[in-house]
Amino acid sequence: MRRVWFGALSAALLSLCLSCVAGHLLSLPELDTQIQLQEQLISQHNDSAYVQRVMRLAKSAEMRSYMQPQLDACEDFFAYSCGNWPKINPAHAAQPRETNYQQLLANGYRHKQQRLLEQPADEDSDDLAVLKLKQLYASCLRYRQTPLPLYRQQLQEIAAAFGRMPALALPGQLWPAEAFDWLATVAQIKGTYGLDILLLLQQAPELQNQTRRRLYVGQPPRSAVEAPHEVAAQLEQHLGLEASLARQTAQQIVELESLLAKGMSSRPLGVLTEQRSPAELANAYAPTFNLTHYVELVLQRPLQPDELLYEHVDSYQAHLLVVLAQTPPQALANYIFHKLLQHFYYDRSAPVVARCMDSATQLFPELLTNMAYRQYGAASTLDDIDAVWQQIKRSFYNLLEHSNSTEWLSLDTRRLVLDQVNATRLLVNGYAHLNFTERYKSLELKPHDFLFNLGAVLSQRSALEPPAVVPTGPAYDPLENQVLLPVALLQPNFLWSRFYPRALRYGSLGTIMAEQLAHSLDTRDAWDAATLAEFGKRKSCYRHQYERLRYAGNYLPSSELQDNNMADNAAIQLAYLGYRRYLANLATTALTTEQLPSLSHSPEQLFFISYAQLWCNDANEQFRDKQSLLLTGTPNALRVQGALANLADFARVFGCARESPMNPEQRCLLYGKSVN
Ligand SMILES: *[C@@H]1O[C@H](CO)[C@@H](O)[C@H](O)[C@H]1NC(C)=O
Ligand SMILES: *[C@@H]1O[C@H](CO)[C@@H](O)[C@H](O)[C@H]1NC(C)=O
Ligand SMILES: *[C@@H]1O[C@H](CO)[C@@H](O)[C@H](O)[C@H]1NC(C)=O
Ligand SMILES: *[C@@H]1O[C@H](CO)[C@@H](O)[C@H](O)[C@H]1NC(C)=O
Ligand SMILES: *[C@@H]1O[C@H](CO)[C@@H](O)[C@H](O)[C@H]1NC(C)=O
Ligand SMILES: *[C@@H]1O[C@H](CO)[C@@H](O)[C@H](O)[C@H]1NC(C)=O
Repeated sequence: MRRVWFGALSAALLSLCLSCVAGHLLSLPELDTQIQLQEQLISQHNDSAYVQRVMRLAKSAEMRSYMQPQLDACEDFFAYSCGNWPKINPAHAAQPRETNYQQLLANGYRHKQQRLLEQPADEDSDDLAVLKLKQLYASCLRYRQTPLPLYRQQLQEIAAAFGRMPALALPGQLWPAEAFDWLATVAQIKGTYGLDILLLLQQAPELQNQTRRRLYVGQPPRSAVEAPHEVAAQLEQHLGLEASLARQTAQQIVELESLLAKGMSSRPLGVLTEQRSPAELANAYAPTFNLTHYVELVLQRPLQPDELLYEHVDSYQAHLLVVLAQTPPQALANYIFHKLLQHFYYDRSAPVVARCMDSATQLFPELLTNMAYRQYGAASTLDDIDAVWQQIKRSFYNLLEHSNSTEWLSLDTRRLVLDQVNATRLLVNGYAHLNFTERYKSLELKPHDFLFNLGAVLSQRSALEPPAVVPTGPAYDPLENQVLLPVALLQPNFLWSRFYPRALRYGSLGTIMAEQLAHSLDTRDAWDAATLAEFGKRKSCYRHQYERLRYAGNYLPSSELQDNNMADNAAIQLAYLGYRRYLANLATTALTTEQLPSLSHSPEQLFFISYAQLWCNDANEQFRDKQSLLLTGTPNALRVQGALANLADFARVFGCARESPMNPEQRCLLYGKSVN
């Protein structure tokens, strides 16, 4: 349902390149600063006719730079629209193995967030939480100047709160193994910083009924096993271990880590779960460890005898018994302390801005998103986006209600679908409902001490709640029945600008929203049997069509999972219908605003090009082979080809000859009929 999607390119960037044309300059980082300056200058200009002209020229240059207009749009529309992309943003043998629009959009967004964090703190206009986040970020930037001995001493102090790390014992000093209680140590770390080492404890919704919450105890999330030389380098660099001790300790740590990983499942919380009473949890792994004791240590209260807990992956706990029996306490302790301190390691040689942006994003994901939302989510922007959304919903509604090619939906099911479409809401995911001042009111930070601040933020978070994750792509949330758009999409001059033709807004933003709206109908439990049978026929049309498409020389694997392909098809159809309705209400004199300078394409053609260009990408050979064999999703090029070939209007708009690849005789259609 959520796929890797797209990104976009700042128009201001292109305005710089109006003269340079050779787009490969675009990926140079030093250009970013220039672009931002340029963007500032242009947007501060008060002559809107001038701004409009520049913006439209820039967008036209951007769109043209990706195209290969000498190709036949009716043969391969993806190559026609995106053929030049690989020259501008080439994928590499190593990283990045794929380049796409999404990355460009994400980079632009990150730069904007960085600028927001670097704006001087303003006691009058910034709210208290924002001041704290800026303080954290500034302390991170400054921390690079902390002398190495002081940094190492701070790490030692963080560890010392929980006992002693054997590798840090002074020469000749004994590490008292009998005084080490691993279960109490991980429980104390969990209680202080919320970190799940060796065991997990988490409050989370029940899988079947998300309104009910449960307390899960058991296997921590599975993570990649580290390379021994990397761990050794960390121990040397951050803790000052002598090289041979670092190597030896790293070896121990990695061996234990890979041993643990063998018993781990990557299934989500709640899938492999067993309901347990405190008595059962106390006895299950006795005498080696007592999970009830662990939970009570973290919660700092006794469990009631009838309190229910949920054990996550009991086979992992059984595996842990075996691992513990063969692991010396020193190795276990080194592992635990390394896992703890890793959250505090500060690589002084790494690029400092990137490092501190990572911390800000990980520690304050919602607040940072909210800052961008408040900067870019002006009421007029949100209104413009909402207008597209409403138009698309109305188009869908009319299609279902009036078209005789949706007669395959029984009256009852059609009613269900209509109600579902009507009830689905759009939300730009900016966390406007959260009171951050309240949330961070007890957080106290220090201006220069980043490690202290890091610890303060971690310990201020609820130990039982997993860290928040802000979705980076659009998504449909069935629980709230809403389509979520990421704030990154609000960046002006990417997909959206009040100066661009609406064709672009409908072709990009519109298809993105329509796709998620289509996904709101993926749950078909309540459909009647006859309708489901008809649906099955339509779905198999898509299955046969897509398995005849070839990628990197191979046919796509046949798949029963067609929801994404069908949502692609519905999306382009609905956005197109919405755009047609918009055009129909537009005075003919206003039609010129629906074109772009230096592009001879009609408004409707621009609509289709902007859709295709959302999916421009380049992938290296290995990446392509992997994708065509495993197929995590339909490759971008075929998503565009498949969905547009099914839309008769596309063939009409581009005047495609009958039987050309983009105008096939056989089409698959789920909802509705063509406009003309
Ligand atoms: C635009 O800016 C110029 C000076 O840069 C100023 O004289 C003029 O009044 C401004 N116009 C508007 C409409 O703000
Ligand atoms: C989900 O749980 C809540 C609270 O326990 C309950 O009221 C509701 O009926 C449950 N819903 C379903 C679908 O079981
Ligand atoms: C487990 O821990 C609980 C609470 O700390 C304690 O009451 C119980 O006796 C322990 N059970 C075993 C089998 O050790
Ligand atoms: C749709 O229905 C109308 C009358 O309700 C009919 O005249 C028309 O032929 C139908 N169109 C198709 C494509 O079936
Ligand atoms: C759509 O939903 C609104 C309430 O959210 C309701 O007032 C309206 O009548 C519905 N429209 C249709 C056509 O069902
Ligand atoms: C947010 O919380 C603060 C501090 O608890 C409170 O003073 C303020 O009124 C709250 N703001 C809103 C909008 O509720």
